[in-house]
Amino acid sequence: MSSIESLLSDRVLKLKPSPTLAIDAKAKMLKAQGIDIVNLSAGEPDFDTPKHIKEAAIEAINQGFTKYTPVAGIVELREAICNKLKTDYDIEYSVEEIVVSTGGKQGLFNVIQAIVNPGDEVIIPVPYWVSYPPMVELAGGRPVYLQTYPEDNFSIDIDSLKKLITQKTKAIILNSPSNPTGAIYSEELLTEIAKLSIEKNFLIITDDIYDQIRFDGKSPYNCVSLVKESKDHVIIANGVSKTYAMTGWRIGYLAGPQPIIKAATKIQSQSTSNPNSIAQKAALSAFTGPQDCVKEMAKAFKERRDYIVNRLNNMENVSTTIPEGAFYVFPDFSKFYGKSVGDKKIEGSLSLADYLLEDAKIAAVPGVAFGDDHFIRFSFATDMENLKKGMDRLEAALKEIK
Ligand SMILES: Cc1ncc(COP(=O)(O)O)c(C=O)c1O
Repeated sequence: MSSIESLLSDRVLKLKPSPTLAIDAKAKMLKAQGIDIVNLSAGEPDFDTPKHIKEAAIEAINQGFTKYTPVAGIVELREAICNKLKTDYDIEYSVEEIVVSTGGKQGLFNVIQAIVNPGDEVIIPVPYWVSYPPMVELAGGRPVYLQTYPEDNFSIDIDSLKKLITQKTKAIILNSPSNPTGAIYSEELLTEIAKLSIEKNFLIITDDIYDQIRFDGKSPYNCVSLVKESKDHVIIANGVSKTYAMTGWRIGYLAGPQPIIKAATKIQSQSTSNPNSIAQKAALSAFTGPQDCVKEMAKAFKERRDYIVNRLNNMENVSTTIPEGAFYVFPDFSKFYGKSVGDKKIEGSLSLADYLLEDAKIAAVPGVAFGDDHFIRFSFATDMENLKKGMDRLEAALKEIK
C-alpha cells in the first residue's frame, strides 16, 4: 500500500469494487478504438426524455428557477408524488412523508444510512441489484443473503425468509420488477412479507423503480397497497429515471413513515441538499403531464422482451426465465462453464462475459455482479436491429465453446 493509499478510510478500503467495471471499461476502450460493439449492458431506456418534460425544464431555466429549493424537494413535486401513489397504488401519503433525492439511488442510500446501525442485518434476495450490499456495508450493516432460483421464477420462499429473521434484522430490500431478473413478486408473497414485517417488527424497503415497466397488463402493487396496515413498516423508493427515460436528470424519491423520511432528509441536508431545481420541475411535468409515453415505452420493451427470450431459448445449452417487467433478461449459461474456446477457459460468468466482449463484441454484465454466477444479464433497452445483431453474434460465439 502506498503512503497516500494508507490515508484512505477503512470504510472505503473494505468496499468491494464493482465487477461490472472491468467489463464496462473494456467495452468503452474497444468502442473508442472504433470496434463495433453491441452494447447490451445498459441500465437505462434508449428512448429520449419526452418533449413536454424537456420543455418544462427549459421553462424553469428561463423563469430563473435556478436557486436552492427545500431540501426534501418543492412542495408541488411532493404533492404530485402523493397523487401518483394514490392513482397508481391507491395509497395515501402526505407531503411530509415524501423526500425527493438526486436519483432513486440517493434515496436508497439515505434511507439505509437512516435506519442501519453497525451490526444490523438487512436481508437481500439474490440475485440483487449491485448497489444494495455496498450501501448496507457502508452503513456498518451486514447483508444477509436469501437465495432465489429460476425454477421458482426467482420468487422468495417465505419459510427460508422466516429462518433468516433474527433480533438484529432491521430490514429487507425488495425489488419488483427486478433488476437483473425481471421477475415480479406475487401479490400473495408480498402480502405475507408485509404481515411478517408487522409481526416481527422489521422494515421493508420496496424499490419500485421499474413499477411502470411490466408486461402482465396489471397495475403495480407493493406491500403497502396490499396490506394497508403495513404502511409504517414500508419505505417506497422510486423515481423518474426508468419510467420517463430520465436517467441523467437524477430525480428519485422515498415515501414512508414520517420519522424515517425526516431522518433521510436530515442526511440529505448534510450531504447534497436539495435535488437539482430544474430537474424537479421536469419531474413535476413528468408526473402531471400525459402518461401515454410511459405506455408506449413499456409496449416497445415487451416486443423486445418477446424477441430476445425467443432467441435465447432457441440456443443450445441456454435457458432463461421470462422477464415480467423491467428491461433485462437473465439467462443461465452455467452449462458452458468448465469448457474452453481456443486457449480461453470459460470458468464462470466473468470469463464468459469477457469472451463475449473480446471475441463476439457483445457487452453484457456477468451474473457474479448480482451475486449469482450462473447467469449473464442482457439489457433489451436497445433497438430491434441491435438486439438481432447481438443475438446472432451470441449464438455464433456460443457454438465455438467446446
Ligand atoms: C433496481 C434499481 N434501483 C434503483 C436504481 C437507481 O436509479 P436512479 O438512476 O434513479 O438512481 C436502479 C438503476 O439502475 C436500479 O436498477
